[in-house]
Amino acid sequence: MNDVHTHKLIKLEDLTKGKPHRVEHNGKGVLLCRIEDSVYAVNDTCPHEDISLSLGVLCEHRLRCPLHGSEFDVRTGRVLNEPAEQDLPTYPVEINAGWVCIK
Ligand code: FES
Repeated sequence: MNDVHTHKLIKLEDLTKGKPHRVEHNGKGVLLCRIEDSVYAVNDTCPHEDISLSLGVLCEHRLRCPLHGSEFDVRTGRVLNEPAEQDLPTYPVEINAGWVCIK
């Protein structure tokens, strides 16, 4: 298996369910969101205004912005309600020997 371009970020066991976890990836803030044993990665910055979504609340697959309350589906990045109008960029996640990795 070729994992030259895969970046190990954190051990899966260190990722708390229901709590967004911010990491740096290629100079950008990325939020890792664990839902049961699946992990999703989305951009950490709210597309409405420049605020870190790591301060928000993750409830099942819905991530709520701490500033104005827009919610995003972390599985797809899709914005679910206003005032944000743009979806969140997502990143492909792989679990490799217990490590959470982004390609
Ligand atoms: S800054 Fe996130 S909804 Fe306004």
